[in-house]
Amino acid sequence: MSLKDKIDLNRLPSHIAIIMDGNGRWAKEKGKNRIFGHSNGVESVRQVSECCAELGVKHMTLYAFSTENWNRPKLEVVALMELLVMTIRKETKTLMENNIRLKAIGNLNTLPSRCYNELMESIEITKNNTRMELVLALSYSGRDEIIQTTKKLATQVANGELNTEDISEELFSSHLFTHDMPDPELLIRTSGEHRISNFLLWQLAYTEFYFTEKYWPEFRKEDVYEAIINYQNRERRFGKTSEQVSTGDAK
Ligand code: FPP
Repeated sequence: MSLKDKIDLNRLPSHIAIIMDGNGRWAKEKGKNRIFGHSNGVESVRQVSECCAELGVKHMTLYAFSTENWNRPKLEVVALMELLVMTIRKETKTLMENNIRLKAIGNLNTLPSRCYNELMESIEITKNNTRMELVLALSYSGRDEIIQTTKKLATQVANGELNTEDISEELFSSHLFTHDMPDPELLIRTSGEHRISNFLLWQLAYTEFYFTEKYWPEFRKEDVYEAIINYQNRERRFGKTSEQVSTGDAK
């Protein structure tokens, strides 16, 4: 039985979030520069996206660039942005062939204009695709997303359009960047690091975390299968007891 056959397709996570980590260390071990690691990471993005779409995962969010990443050496930032432009330009055709819709979350207006324009073009071209949504988190910060959402709601309260008592978890969620997708059921982080690093802080409240030692450029379809099988072998209790879950009384 192959790994893929062990997956229960009726219990797939509908949304997988991924912190792609270890490009730099992977490259260093090979005696290459960090950019070489990022370039090779693109092949993993391609494989993992294809794999998730084939399985039937509906949303996949990739942490491609955090607001903290702006502090990296200028040359690396420029190279990463250029890689994004080239990849989006080259892969939009693949997204169309695979019926995948591209989306992006984050402070997109801080991206260099070439990158922003390329991104917007691909988002527009792929907007009617329905098989899977591939969401790139770019210039993204989870805390900042929560602050921006709080400001939007505070403004509505100040303008008399919203009562403070009506602010609920649902209302808050509906104003986040991710308002039109479910929270991730599974988060994968590569390279042996065990941190959230300011990624989807609100949305990961009940998410199952899966960590692997593999560096991102080595991450392949089989590794996605392993992560999903591991996820499917867990019991998600949402704060309830095991007995409540087994009698179907869970969220
Ligand atoms: C983390 O590795 C990776 C990034 C900050 C960038 C991820 C970007 C890509 C995989 C390429 C482009 C992506 C798309 C969606 C086209 P790191 O540099 O932090 O590695 P290290 O921890 O070993 O230094």
